[in-house]
Amino acid sequence: MSRPKLKIAILISGRGSNLQALIDQFGPQVANSPIEIVLVLSNRPDAFGLTRAERAGIPTVTVDHKAFADRAGFDGAMDAAIRKTGAELVVLAGFLRLLTDGFIAGWHDKLVNIHPALLPSFKGLHTHARALEAGVRFHGCTVHFVRPDMDTGPIIAQAVVPVRPDDTENSLGLRVLAAEHRLFPQALRLIAEGKVRVENERAIIDDAAFAGGILYNPLGA
Ligand code: GRF
Repeated sequence: MSRPKLKIAILISGRGSNLQALIDQFGPQVANSPIEIVLVLSNRPDAFGLTRAERAGIPTVTVDHKAFADRAGFDGAMDAAIRKTGAELVVLAGFLRLLTDGFIAGWHDKLVNIHPALLPSFKGLHTHARALEAGVRFHGCTVHFVRPDMDTGPIIAQAVVPVRPDDTENSLGLRVLAAEHRLFPQALRLIAEGKVRVENERAIIDDAAFAGGILYNPLGA
């Protein structure tokens, strides 16, 4: 017997290329998807990701942070919009607002983020420029459960890419983004299949075929 589809809500603020990767793997047009995207929520009415979702026939909503006096009010409105859909997991895919502790607590181990660096290195913004500045030889991205401190929480999966001597912020960023588009669907699929659990603040993957890491194109062009 197949398990019911995991209902997810995806939160975005902008272009939504990660959202697109998730639509491509789990959207309404995909047969036998283990996931149903029940909502795409943006805090910005002009986010291109909303167009991507509409094109795919996925319900969208905008909760504009500017309409709220404080973060608790904004997060409360988002929480209500998400819960109305029956979503079981909230996915941050380029969502650029900090969430309140209350919102995060309400979705404990049910809130995941993708960060464009190998955490715990390079938390925060401008990760590619900072990786180049630090001279690291490898960089990448991380999918993790969200905890109140920014860019912390149990690590579900990471993908590694090489840093090349002639890299610019842009070229390195594009390489990481391509890795994000592979890693994020893979991590969400593991969750949907019930293969991810958190023990002592570490995420354990119950899948012999995928231990949570991808080495992406380490030698290729
Ligand atoms: C990605 O690099 C993601 O890791 C970060 O924000 C960016 C969003 O890009 N959290 P997109 O909107 O998915 O194209």
